[in-house]
Amino acid sequence: MSTNRYAIILAAGQGTRMKSKLYKVLHPVCGKPMVEHVVDQVSKLDINKIVTIVGHGADQVKAQLDGKSEFALQEEQLGTAHAVMQAAPQLATLQGTTLVICGDTPLITAETMEALLSHHEQQGAKATILSSYAEDPTGYGRIIRNEDGHVERIVEHKDATDEERKVKEINTGTYCFDNQALFEALQHVSNDNAQGEYYLPDVIEILKAKGEIVSAYQIADMEETLGVNDRVALAQAEKIMRRRINEYHMRNGVSIIDPENTYIGVEVQIGQDTIIYPGSVITGQTVIGNDCKIGPHTEIHDCEINDRTVIRQSVAHQSSIGSDVTIGPFAHIRPQSAIGNEVRIGNFVEIKKSTFGKGSKASHLSYIGDAEVGEQVNIGCGSITVNYDGKNKYLTKIEDNVFVGCNSNLVAPVTIGKGAYIAAGSTITEDVPGMALSIARARQVNKENYVHKLNSKK
Ligand code: UD1
Ligand code: CA
Repeated sequence: MSTNRYAIILAAGQGTRMKSKLYKVLHPVCGKPMVEHVVDQVSKLDINKIVTIVGHGADQVKAQLDGKSEFALQEEQLGTAHAVMQAAPQLATLQGTTLVICGDTPLITAETMEALLSHHEQQGAKATILSSYAEDPTGYGRIIRNEDGHVERIVEHKDATDEERKVKEINTGTYCFDNQALFEALQHVSNDNAQGEYYLPDVIEILKAKGEIVSAYQIADMEETLGVNDRVALAQAEKIMRRRINEYHMRNGVSIIDPENTYIGVEVQIGQDTIIYPGSVITGQTVIGNDCKIGPHTEIHDCEINDRTVIRQSVAHQSSIGSDVTIGPFAHIRPQSAIGNEVRIGNFVEIKKSTFGKGSKASHLSYIGDAEVGEQVNIGCGSITVNYDGKNKYLTKIEDNVFVGCNSNLVAPVTIGKGAYIAAGSTITEDVPGMALSIARARQVNKENYVHKLNSKK
């Protein structure tokens, strides 16, 4: 029978060093809050119960992790040992192995946690620390080993002697414990230290003193264990995560011309042979098909983009975009738009909450808002929908094969029937029947030689 496994995620701290209104563990790394990265990685393991310890910003943290974790409230932040103790009602009596992990180590992977758990179970240890080497260990707890190389205890940076501070093997803040031994030992942790806090790492020394087996599993990849306490570390985490995400896509057949300058969110999916040019920021639940060209300098959030579409120097949010579409340069696709296949949206065109049927075009300088545009429609340069009277928004319907001449105003609500032709410069205020030519502009008057008359008056 395999051992039951539990996880406790520490996320109650304020994160003073972030100097932020936002609670530390909710700061995003590549678009996802740190603590959610941790919970998502933990969830990949076979874990019977996940308990997240919440305190500062408890409501927001709970809302963010809703359905992914159980919660225990730590009303006062008296230290990491005290935090773990808050999970006692859910866990203390259970048999099995408990993984404890900080909510501010967003880079740690499920593979590493799995390796830690199997090392722990193989060693038959009561506690195993995930340790790492840091070139600059400042701020981390140090692993203190005896002459035989066995782990003795962990000393916090603030409590360490000069000699101990030279140690570069650090506590990553991830551990696994025999669950019952953990909750038993927690009762013996004191707060007699530099910070007046109950330290979880003290459990190591307590178990050791009882003659239990205590072990440390050294992680090869130091990067994974970065603890984010301030915004400098946040930027480092972002950089590492960004590289990881970009490498994942490149290995999957996506070309990224300049990975250092390409920002892709964790949830984004991209198809094969798509090319991402520099300066592109692709976030949210965006899904991009095969053979697309995105960028340079393009911002895409929560969009579905189909095969062979090209989007250059443009912004698109919360919209669906078909295949073989070209957008940009300098176009703006605003939320709730649905752009059909083979559409062309050119420079300085803004589309808002509108649909575009197959093959339609708005190639230059247009505003199309609250509109239903059919197939094979041509919207001439500078034409706009007049969708707003200062109070309400109205719908413009442009049916299939309509040709809207340049610089026309379509004053909504209005329908332009199938195949109709709007003369350039028209201000359309009434429906236009299908196949009609509509001219709605003042007639041109040429006054012969009038300029001579004007000049003679001077
Ligand atoms: C902690 C470890 C240190 C380790 C480092 C790794 C302790 C005492 N020290 O230090 O050995 O090298 O992590 O990154 O554990 N938290 C609570 N309740 C509390 C206090 C903290 O939930 O009362 C949470 C925080 O939200 C945070 C995590 O525990 O997610 C770690 O706390 P933090 O204050 O960042 O500890 P470090 O000083 O980084
Ligand atoms: Ca920390």
